[in-house]
Amino acid sequence: MAKIIAISNQKGGVGKTTTAVNLAACLAEFGMSVLLVDIDPQGNATSGLGVEKNRDTANTYRLLIGECSVKDAIAPTAFPGLFIIPSTVDLAGAEAELLSADNREYILRDALSEVRDRYDYIIIDCPPSLNVLVLNGLCAADSMICPLQCEFYALEGLSQLLETVEMVRTRLNDNLSFGGILFTMFDGRTRLSAQVIQNVQQTLNEHIFRTVIPRSVRLSEAPSYGEPITKYDSRSAGAEAYRNFAREILSGDGKRIRSRKKKIFR
Ligand SMILES: Nc1ncnc2c1ncn2[C@@H]1O[C@H](COP(=O)(O)OP(=O)(O)OP(=O)(O)O)[C@@H](O)[C@H]1O
Ligand SMILES: [Mg+2]
Repeated sequence: MAKIIAISNQKGGVGKTTTAVNLAACLAEFGMSVLLVDIDPQGNATSGLGVEKNRDTANTYRLLIGECSVKDAIAPTAFPGLFIIPSTVDLAGAEAELLSADNREYILRDALSEVRDRYDYIIIDCPPSLNVLVLNGLCAADSMICPLQCEFYALEGLSQLLETVEMVRTRLNDNLSFGGILFTMFDGRTRLSAQVIQNVQQTLNEHIFRTVIPRSVRLSEAPSYGEPITKYDSRSAGAEAYRNFAREILSGDGKRIRSRKKKIFR
């Protein structure tokens, strides 16, 4: 039964998609069966894995408005063990279209429940907002991981973010836990990055992952080739950092790294 993890932060450009794509790829590399769900109309996770943003085939938008089944919405990627529900720009219209839908926050949860037993992990890449799409992501998830950019303004959104989790937990999904904060774009040459981490550690009583993702040009280049960092530059510091992060996730869940030879489900 898959563990469902939403990668979320209302703030834009903090590394959500980079984390979702590369965590999913590293877990797959470690032998897990992984489904990445792109619920952002920008579709960055979709193109980041080299999958076409095709409005005519099944995608997250069609899934949410009931035009296709979850099984139809799942597409393979070029990477063994890694599958995706792709997004298109149509998803931007879903909010208005779902306004009158019953249980509109739970559509994704109910859809994923049909395929949950086929995967070890389902990773949801959320858009930078708190709309019905993100609420669908957080209602479907067992835990939410929040990437935080190592910069001064990161701290400003933090309390709002934790309030969001609490709100979702009390009103919509009491199963949701806060998985932790992942620091991204760490720049070892500046004092600011280290100060931001220290500040959060001192003020926040929440889990913070040991792994810190470095600022790396290779990580920012990989999406334009439609590849996760494990393929684009497997030996880079960014690839190693995301592998370490994936190891933390696996050990927290009591799972062990497997060989990639097991049967892969679609
Ligand atoms: N560790 C890193 N080092 C260098 N560049 C990075 C790193 N992580 C992310 N980036 C780059 O920063 C930009 C924002 O990252 P990303 O798209 O992952 O953030 P996001 O939170 O998903 O953004 P949005 O809120 O728009 O969805 C991208 O250009 C990405 O390539
Ligand atoms: Mg994104």
